[in-house]
Amino acid sequence: MAQRPYIVGNWKMHGTRAMLSEARAIDRAAERLTKVEVALAPPFTLVHATRKEAGLIGVGAQDCHPAEGGAHTGDISAPMLKDSGAGFVIVGHSERRSDHGESNELVRRKAEAALAAGLAVIVCVGESEAERDAGKAVKVVTAQLEASLPESTDCAEKLTVAYEPVWAIGTGRVPSVDDVSEMHRAIRAMLVGKFGEAGETVRILYGGSVKPDNAAELLGANEVGGALVGGASLTAESFLGIILAAAGENTD
Ligand code: 13P
Repeated sequence: MAQRPYIVGNWKMHGTRAMLSEARAIDRAAERLTKVEVALAPPFTLVHATRKEAGLIGVGAQDCHPAEGGAHTGDISAPMLKDSGAGFVIVGHSERRSDHGESNELVRRKAEAALAAGLAVIVCVGESEAERDAGKAVKVVTAQLEASLPESTDCAEKLTVAYEPVWAIGTGRVPSVDDVSEMHRAIRAMLVGKFGEAGETVRILYGGSVKPDNAAELLGANEVGGALVGGASLTAESFLGIILAAAGENTD
Protein backbone atom coordinates (compact mmCIF):
# COMPACT_ATOMS: atom_id res chain seq x y z
CA MET A 1 0.00 0.00 0.00
CA ALA A 2 1.31 3.43 -0.91
CA GLN A 3 2.31 5.49 2.10
CA ARG A 4 0.59 8.75 2.89
CA PRO A 5 2.62 11.84 2.03
CA TYR A 6 4.42 13.13 5.11
CA ILE A 7 4.44 16.93 5.46
CA VAL A 8 6.62 18.25 8.26
CA GLY A 9 6.86 21.90 9.31
CA ASN A 10 10.22 22.97 10.72
CA TRP A 11 9.66 26.19 12.63
CA LYS A 12 13.41 26.70 13.17
CA MET A 13 14.07 29.53 15.69
CA HIS A 14 10.59 31.00 15.32
CA GLY A 15 7.68 30.94 17.65
CA THR A 16 6.47 31.92 21.08
CA ARG A 17 3.29 30.71 22.75
CA ALA A 18 1.33 33.14 20.59
CA MET A 19 2.03 30.81 17.67
CA LEU A 20 0.21 27.90 19.26
CA SER A 21 -2.95 29.15 17.57
CA GLU A 22 -1.31 28.27 14.23
CA ALA A 23 -0.54 24.77 15.52
CA ARG A 24 -4.16 24.37 16.62
CA ALA A 25 -5.45 25.45 13.22
CA ILE A 26 -3.07 23.05 11.47
CA ASP A 27 -4.23 20.27 13.78
CA ARG A 28 -7.90 20.95 13.05
CA ALA A 29 -7.28 20.80 9.30
CA ALA A 30 -5.25 17.61 9.64
CA GLU A 31 -8.28 15.98 11.23
CA ARG A 32 -10.11 16.42 7.92
CA LEU A 33 -7.17 15.73 5.59
CA THR A 34 -6.53 12.15 6.57
CA LYS A 35 -4.75 11.36 3.29
CA VAL A 36 -1.72 13.27 4.56
CA GLU A 37 0.45 12.71 7.63
CA VAL A 38 1.25 16.09 9.16
CA ALA A 39 3.84 17.01 11.78
CA LEU A 40 5.40 20.11 13.29
CA ALA A 41 8.87 20.60 14.75
CA PRO A 42 8.62 23.77 16.86
CA PRO A 43 11.55 25.08 18.93
CA PHE A 44 12.30 23.13 22.13
CA THR A 45 10.41 25.66 24.24
CA LEU A 46 7.15 24.86 22.47
CA VAL A 47 7.38 21.08 22.06
CA HIS A 48 5.37 20.26 25.17
CA ALA A 49 2.74 22.96 24.63
CA THR A 50 2.36 22.03 20.95
CA ARG A 51 1.86 18.38 21.90
CA LYS A 52 -0.87 19.43 24.32
CA GLU A 53 -2.60 21.86 21.97
CA ALA A 54 -2.39 19.78 18.79
CA GLY A 55 -3.50 16.27 19.57
CA LEU A 56 -3.60 14.71 16.11
CA ILE A 57 -0.50 15.80 14.25
CA GLY A 58 3.01 14.55 14.95
CA VAL A 59 5.18 16.80 17.13
CA GLY A 60 8.95 16.65 17.19
CA ALA A 61 12.11 18.64 17.84
CA GLN A 62 14.83 20.07 15.64
CA ASP A 63 17.94 18.63 17.27
CA CYS A 64 19.17 16.55 20.20
CA HIS A 65 22.46 15.90 21.98
CA PRO A 66 24.02 12.46 21.40
CA ALA A 67 24.33 11.74 25.14
CA GLU A 68 21.44 10.66 27.36
CA GLY A 69 22.28 13.32 29.91
CA GLY A 70 25.21 14.94 31.71
CA ALA A 71 27.19 18.14 31.97
CA HIS A 72 26.27 19.73 28.64
CA THR A 73 25.01 23.22 29.41
CA GLY A 74 22.29 24.38 27.09
CA ASP A 75 21.79 21.04 25.36
CA ILE A 76 18.74 18.80 25.28
CA SER A 77 18.87 15.00 25.17
CA ALA A 78 16.65 12.63 23.25
CA PRO A 79 15.08 11.12 26.42
CA MET A 80 14.18 14.68 27.53
CA LEU A 81 12.45 15.26 24.20
CA LYS A 82 10.58 12.02 24.56
CA ASP A 83 9.50 13.08 28.04
CA SER A 84 8.25 16.43 26.77
CA GLY A 85 5.98 14.72 24.26
CA ALA A 86 8.09 14.64 21.10
CA GLY A 87 7.62 11.69 18.78
CA PHE A 88 10.53 12.43 16.47
CA VAL A 89 13.59 14.61 16.06
CA ILE A 90 15.25 16.20 13.05
CA VAL A 91 19.03 15.72 12.96
CA GLY A 92 21.72 17.00 10.59
CA HIS A 93 19.83 20.00 9.28
CA SER A 94 22.19 22.11 7.18
CA GLU A 95 21.73 25.02 9.57
CA ARG A 96 23.00 22.82 12.43
CA ARG A 97 25.83 21.59 10.24
CA SER A 98 26.87 25.16 9.34
CA ASP A 99 25.98 27.10 12.53
CA HIS A 100 27.42 24.47 14.88
CA GLY A 101 29.98 22.68 12.73
CA GLU A 102 28.17 19.35 13.00
CA SER A 103 29.94 16.48 11.24
CA ASN A 104 28.31 13.44 9.67
CA GLU A 105 29.66 11.40 12.56
CA LEU A 106 27.98 13.63 15.14
CA VAL A 107 24.73 13.53 13.18
CA ARG A 108 24.90 9.73 13.15
CA ARG A 109 25.39 9.64 16.93
CA LYS A 110 22.44 11.98 17.40
CA ALA A 111 20.28 9.77 15.19
CA GLU A 112 21.32 6.72 17.21
CA ALA A 113 20.53 8.52 20.48
CA ALA A 114 17.09 9.44 19.16
CA LEU A 115 16.32 5.85 18.20
CA ALA A 116 17.58 4.58 21.56
CA ALA A 117 15.15 6.97 23.27
CA GLY A 118 12.27 5.61 21.20
CA LEU A 119 11.98 8.59 18.89
CA ALA A 120 11.62 8.49 15.12
CA VAL A 121 14.32 10.44 13.32
CA ILE A 122 14.54 12.63 10.24
CA VAL A 123 18.11 12.74 8.88
CA CYS A 124 18.81 15.75 6.66
CA VAL A 125 21.33 15.91 3.83
CA GLY A 126 21.94 18.30 0.95
CA GLU A 127 24.60 19.71 -1.34
CA SER A 128 25.91 23.27 -1.57
CA GLU A 129 25.51 25.33 -4.70
CA ALA A 130 29.19 24.91 -5.58
CA GLU A 131 28.86 21.13 -5.28
CA ARG A 132 25.83 21.12 -7.58
CA ASP A 133 27.57 23.39 -10.09
CA ALA A 134 30.54 21.05 -10.09
CA GLY A 135 28.25 18.12 -10.98
CA LYS A 136 28.96 16.42 -7.67
CA ALA A 137 25.56 16.71 -5.98
CA VAL A 138 24.54 13.04 -6.09
CA LYS A 139 27.95 11.83 -5.01
CA VAL A 140 28.17 14.34 -2.14
CA VAL A 141 24.66 13.72 -0.84
CA THR A 142 24.79 9.92 -0.94
CA ALA A 143 28.17 9.94 0.83
CA GLN A 144 26.84 12.39 3.41
CA LEU A 145 23.82 10.19 4.00
CA GLU A 146 25.80 6.99 4.27
CA ALA A 147 27.96 8.56 6.99
CA SER A 148 25.02 10.21 8.81
CA LEU A 149 22.70 7.21 9.09
CA PRO A 150 22.58 5.08 12.23
CA GLU A 151 24.82 2.02 12.03
CA SER A 152 22.01 -0.38 12.82
CA THR A 153 20.31 -1.92 9.80
CA ASP A 154 17.27 -2.59 11.92
CA CYS A 155 15.77 0.91 12.18
CA ALA A 156 14.29 1.61 8.75
CA GLU A 157 10.74 1.94 10.05
CA LYS A 158 11.74 4.75 12.42
CA LEU A 159 13.74 6.59 9.80
CA THR A 160 12.91 9.40 7.37
CA VAL A 161 15.46 11.10 5.11
CA ALA A 162 15.12 14.74 4.07
CA TYR A 163 16.93 15.94 0.97
CA GLU A 164 17.41 19.69 1.33
CA PRO A 165 19.75 21.37 -1.17
CA VAL A 166 21.47 24.06 0.90
CA TRP A 167 21.09 26.63 -1.87
CA ALA A 168 17.31 26.10 -1.99
CA ILE A 169 16.68 26.72 1.72
CA GLY A 170 14.97 30.04 2.32
CA THR A 171 15.96 31.36 -1.11
CA GLY A 172 12.81 30.82 -3.16
CA ARG A 173 14.91 28.76 -5.59
CA VAL A 174 14.13 25.09 -6.18
CA PRO A 175 15.82 22.36 -8.21
CA SER A 176 14.10 21.06 -11.32
CA VAL A 177 11.76 18.13 -10.88
CA ASP A 178 14.26 16.04 -12.86
CA ASP A 179 17.06 16.94 -10.46
CA VAL A 180 14.86 16.14 -7.46
CA SER A 181 13.90 12.80 -9.02
CA GLU A 182 17.51 11.94 -9.80
CA MET A 183 18.59 12.66 -6.23
CA HIS A 184 15.69 10.84 -4.62
CA ARG A 185 16.31 7.77 -6.78
CA ALA A 186 19.97 7.76 -5.76
CA ILE A 187 18.99 8.07 -2.10
CA ARG A 188 16.50 5.21 -2.48
CA ALA A 189 19.18 3.00 -4.04
CA MET A 190 21.50 3.81 -1.14
CA LEU A 191 18.77 3.00 1.40
CA VAL A 192 17.92 -0.30 -0.26
CA GLY A 193 21.63 -1.14 -0.35
CA LYS A 194 21.82 -0.60 3.41
CA PHE A 195 18.45 -1.82 4.66
CA GLY A 196 17.39 -4.29 1.97
CA GLU A 197 13.65 -4.45 1.34
CA ALA A 198 12.93 -2.24 4.36
CA GLY A 199 14.83 0.54 2.57
CA GLU A 200 11.94 0.75 0.11
CA THR A 201 9.64 2.04 2.85
CA VAL A 202 11.84 4.81 4.25
CA ARG A 203 10.23 8.10 3.35
CA ILE A 204 12.40 10.57 1.50
CA LEU A 205 11.22 14.16 1.93
CA TYR A 206 12.19 17.10 -0.25
CA GLY A 207 12.91 20.40 1.54
CA GLY A 208 13.93 23.85 0.33
CA SER A 209 11.53 26.67 -0.60
CA VAL A 210 8.45 24.42 -0.73
CA LYS A 211 5.41 26.70 -1.07
CA PRO A 212 1.71 26.13 -1.77
CA ASP A 213 2.24 26.96 -5.44
CA ASN A 214 5.14 24.58 -6.13
CA ALA A 215 4.27 21.78 -3.70
CA ALA A 216 2.24 19.63 -6.08
CA GLU A 217 5.00 19.61 -8.67
CA LEU A 218 7.79 18.84 -6.21
CA LEU A 219 5.73 16.18 -4.44
CA GLY A 220 5.07 14.57 -7.80
CA ALA A 221 8.78 13.95 -8.44
CA ASN A 222 10.07 10.41 -8.34
CA GLU A 223 10.47 8.87 -4.86
CA VAL A 224 9.36 12.05 -3.07
CA GLY A 225 7.38 10.92 -0.02
CA GLY A 226 6.64 14.33 1.41
CA ALA A 227 8.14 17.69 2.27
CA LEU A 228 10.14 19.34 5.04
CA VAL A 229 8.88 22.91 5.07
CA GLY A 230 10.49 25.92 6.72
CA GLY A 231 9.11 29.41 6.11
CA ALA A 232 5.80 28.27 4.64
CA SER A 233 5.00 26.23 7.76
CA LEU A 234 4.90 29.28 10.03
CA THR A 235 1.29 30.15 9.31
CA ALA A 236 -1.56 27.69 9.14
CA GLU A 237 -2.72 29.36 5.94
CA SER A 238 0.41 28.69 3.89
CA PHE A 239 1.15 25.33 5.50
CA LEU A 240 -2.38 24.18 4.71
CA GLY A 241 -1.84 25.11 1.08
CA ILE A 242 0.99 22.59 1.01
CA ILE A 243 -0.97 19.95 2.91
CA LEU A 244 -3.87 20.36 0.48
CA ALA A 245 -1.51 19.97 -2.47
CA ALA A 246 -0.17 16.78 -0.88
CA ALA A 247 -3.76 15.56 -0.46
CA GLY A 248 -4.34 16.17 -4.16
CA GLU A 249 -6.91 18.87 -3.42
CA ASN A 250 -7.10 21.94 -5.57
CA THR A 251 -6.15 25.09 -3.70
CA ASP A 252 -7.66 27.54 -6.23
P1 13P B 1 12.40 26.86 3.65
O1 13P B 1 11.13 26.08 3.37
O2 13P B 1 12.18 28.10 4.43
O3 13P B 1 13.24 27.02 2.43
O4 13P B 1 13.27 25.92 4.65
C1 13P B 1 13.47 24.59 4.32
C2 13P B 1 14.07 23.91 5.47
O5 13P B 1 15.21 24.14 5.82
C3 13P B 1 13.23 22.97 6.23
O6 13P B 1 13.98 22.23 7.13
